Amino acid sequence: MILQNILIFAHRGSKGTHPENTMAAFQKAAEIGAEGIEFDVHLSSDGELVIIHDETLDRTTTLTGYVKDHSAQKLKTADAGSKFSNEFLGERIPFLVDVFDWAKGNALLMNVEIKTDKLAYEGIEQKIIDSIRQYGMENRVILSSFNHQSIEKVKMLAPDLERALLFEGLPENFEEILRDKKESGFHPDKNSLTPAVKEKAKKLGYKIRPWVANDETDIVRLAELGVDVIMTDFPERAIKILKAW
Ligand code: G3P
Ligand code: CA
Repeated sequence: MILQNILIFAHRGSKGTHPENTMAAFQKAAEIGAEGIEFDVHLSSDGELVIIHDETLDRTTTLTGYVKDHSAQKLKTADAGSKFSNEFLGERIPFLVDVFDWAKGNALLMNVEIKTDKLAYEGIEQKIIDSIRQYGMENRVILSSFNHQSIEKVKMLAPDLERALLFEGLPENFEEILRDKKESGFHPDKNSLTPAVKEKAKKLGYKIRPWVANDETDIVRLAELGVDVIMTDFPERAIKILKAW
């Protein structure tokens, strides 16, 4: 539900209560009434779009090594739930097609983070665009990245798609960057979003979607600042807090 014009996006699904970037996490977000989900995309060795946060499999799955070194078929054998809790044993690593297939049955917005800040994935932007087109998800997806060159590529390849610039800490010239890039989404880490920063980004016409606010103090502070989206690992909690706000 839309609360005070602020949308709730479930970060990596509902990472606080479910194994991150899994269908269980995304389903939870839909069930509790979040407006959107955020998730991260990498490429498998055979060029499939894989939803996982890290470049490597070790932290969240039962496989080891780099995502890019495994085929899609191999990645499908991994358990992506049991490291979070045995309750989620059997949960798989989803692929972008799995999420888009599932999303046909709901109205969730999807913030697709292109994970090209640590590794280069040749052609990942075009593959994501192709998938968005194939599933007709053009109006439901926001593409973001810490790698602003990836966002430039999307702009060139698919100017109609919504794009956002991710920041962790803000460079002194962030305002200049926002002005030059002329994107529509500004996704700073929550601590960088001061009232002055917010005002500057708003003046330039940006939608403001900070990440990641989990406790009441942060959620209320961001709501009072007038952000457009709150990204959170605990969407159920955030909805409750905003309802009472
Ligand atoms: O997109 C916001 C946020 O997800 C960026 O940080 O590390 O959780 O991908 P991270
Ligand atoms: Ca992310």
